[in-house]
Amino acid sequence: MKIVIVMEISARSFFVSLFLLSVAFAGLSRTKTPLYRQADADIDVRVEDLLGRMTLDEKIGQLNQRSYWYSQRGRELFFPMAAAGQVGSFMNVTDPATSDSLQYMAVECSRLGIPLLMARDVIHGYKTIFPIPLGLAATFSPEMAADAARIAAVEASSDGIRWTFAPMLDIARDPRWGRIAEGCGEDPYLASLMAEAMVRGFQHGDSLGSSTSLAACAKHFVAYGAAEGGRDYNCTNVTGRELRQTYFPPFEAALRAGALTFMSSFNANDGIPASCNRQLLHDVLRDQWGFKGFVVSDCFSVRELIAHGVAADEAEAAAKCISAGVDMDMEDGIYASHLRTLVGKGLVSEEDIDRAVRGILRVKFKLGLFENPYVATPQSVKYAQSHLDAARRSALMSAILLKNDNKTLPLSPCRTKRILLTGPLADATYDQLGTWIFDGEKEHTVTLLQALRNQYSDSISIVYEPGLKYSRHDDDACIERAVVAADDADAIIVAVGEEAILSGEGHSMAGLGLVGGQSKLIERLKSTGKPLVMIVMAGRPLAIGREAEMADAVLYSFHPGTMGGPALADLLMGRESPSGKTPVTFPSTSGQCPIYYNHPSTGRPATGKEIGLDGIPEEAGNTFLGCTSYYLDAGYEPLYPFGYGLSYTDFDYSDLKLDSADYPLDGTVRASFTLTNKGNCRATEVAQLYTSDVVASVTPAVTELRRFERVTLAPGESRRMEMSFPVSELAFVGSDLEKRVEPGEFILRVGTDSRAPLSTRFTVR
Ligand code: NOJ
Repeated sequence: MKIVIVMEISARSFFVSLFLLSVAFAGLSRTKTPLYRQADADIDVRVEDLLGRMTLDEKIGQLNQRSYWYSQRGRELFFPMAAAGQVGSFMNVTDPATSDSLQYMAVECSRLGIPLLMARDVIHGYKTIFPIPLGLAATFSPEMAADAARIAAVEASSDGIRWTFAPMLDIARDPRWGRIAEGCGEDPYLASLMAEAMVRGFQHGDSLGSSTSLAACAKHFVAYGAAEGGRDYNCTNVTGRELRQTYFPPFEAALRAGALTFMSSFNANDGIPASCNRQLLHDVLRDQWGFKGFVVSDCFSVRELIAHGVAADEAEAAAKCISAGVDMDMEDGIYASHLRTLVGKGLVSEEDIDRAVRGILRVKFKLGLFENPYVATPQSVKYAQSHLDAARRSALMSAILLKNDNKTLPLSPCRTKRILLTGPLADATYDQLGTWIFDGEKEHTVTLLQALRNQYSDSISIVYEPGLKYSRHDDDACIERAVVAADDADAIIVAVGEEAILSGEGHSMAGLGLVGGQSKLIERLKSTGKPLVMIVMAGRPLAIGREAEMADAVLYSFHPGTMGGPALADLLMGRESPSGKTPVTFPSTSGQCPIYYNHPSTGRPATGKEIGLDGIPEEAGNTFLGCTSYYLDAGYEPLYPFGYGLSYTDFDYSDLKLDSADYPLDGTVRASFTLTNKGNCRATEVAQLYTSDVVASVTPAVTELRRFERVTLAPGESRRMEMSFPVSELAFVGSDLEKRVEPGEFILRVGTDSRAPLSTRFTVR
């Protein structure tokens, strides 16, 4: 195999001589196997042994991450760099032959043979694409998220990738921010469970050394999702208390699950860009949390200190970032260009360099790269049937039924013989995959149109007329063709939403309505009087109130991935009942943003009796409206609350009980209630439990998700549910930045979403 690899390399003879030289050198100098090469030695011992042998240049090489370009230039530049130990990691190498060749240069030709760490953004699948992370969060199933991550890791490792820049753990409360698509929504508890699950999936639990595990990267540390105005890369102003209360927990959870790496974020919080924030990267992450892996900067974020206005030039940027705790410089080569001089001038300490190298080496040892540097996963794992089945299951579990008037869904083949399928997302092989799919291939996507035709054309005749070509398209003639096609149909399914490019990094929107002529299309279809089912595929919660009003049923699917079509077809035709829940609040208009369910109470909360614009008489007096916290033109209620999602059956919650009326600080609250499937189909509910702190020393959140469980019940079946949590989880961050539970009264509620009306009270003493 080595011969094949060497033949592959264009500058063959140069490398062969280098190799021979290094072998000769090794033969002369190694009397016995150095400690760092002994697989059974303790990892910290191996790290120290290797570190002790490294020159300053070799150390700086480890801190340098480059993006590989697939051109001759890439080869000419990067192969010699790998052979000289000048690079610690490459990103974006996705063919196994190039990966192995580069690795060969590092392992066999460099002086110390330190393997490279191959990185890639494997975010929601590699080849088999799963729903976007926001969609995975909508499953409320950490197990499903772990499976998706595991499968992504297996597929990616077949191309030599051993490090993914995921999971993305930014809490997002503003859907204008396009990157809301990449995270797990607004709730720290749900996001924390998802974080742990995804880290476990990528890193293969404790089997990190397996050739199919990827090092996870908890990103973006931190508060990046709080970008002012929802505009990407914008500054954030999150207080220390709020960081600890809301933004840190998913990262702490990822660390508990063993996340090997962290990525510093682009944003400057309270004036300090994350990549030079020593308090965050050193005091919190390392000192308080005990992180032992390494921190990589986000792409070019070392250089961006200059644009942020906190460094005059590259050298100052490098000095600030390495001293703050960024260990690896992603892509911009600034560490490689400046660290040697900075150390020479005493502006950067060798201790900081050693800290960074230690973290990187530790991760490489943990991944078993010194023992198994080459690709070992077969190509055949890509698109394996079991992977496609899991992708279909996750898309099914993540679709959210927002409306179902008169039981329009599921469509019954007895009443519905002919369907018009229309809309720009009905057959959108690319857009259905969503944002951040570097490696997904649209040729493998199964769309709703294909799925309905493949699976259901025996029982139902399907007429397809796109209506619009893509989400931003606006063409009356095209729309009218769809309206005409509706003539013979018994029902209309219109698939609308967003193209993949409208969400994700750098893709923020000021408005949250449907773009292009989609609203018009829906209005025209509504005028036919036929039952109208609206499917939405999007990267964010859209403000679709007007369109939802026109539709009889609405099924929302955050871009569902490769197998989205079959999953949605099964739901439409009633083979399965929807069970997804909103992992974020849906605003009624972008003017309500930021909006989230677990907000602190105001001194003047809305009462529900507020008067809207139309109810205000002319020349009304100043206090006529009553002065509560709401918008005259948009009220205060969201379009759909957090945790919301209907089913084809009705679930009933009753008989809520606690095992005690009061609990000690070290106690455990045990709640039980009866959940009944009152309908006539088997279905899954995500039962949810919330608590509210009645009085605390700082304004508490109005309510917070504390536990949830996916439960499948047969028609008529009842189950006594039990949910418990330690009193310590009622802790909040006080004004002194310390976490504590304050004795006093609490409300506990259970139900089908965050408005859960069935409640009881308990006291903590
Ligand atoms: C920038 C993005 O913010 C980050 O999420 C990603 O991992 C890196 N680029 C690498 O592509």
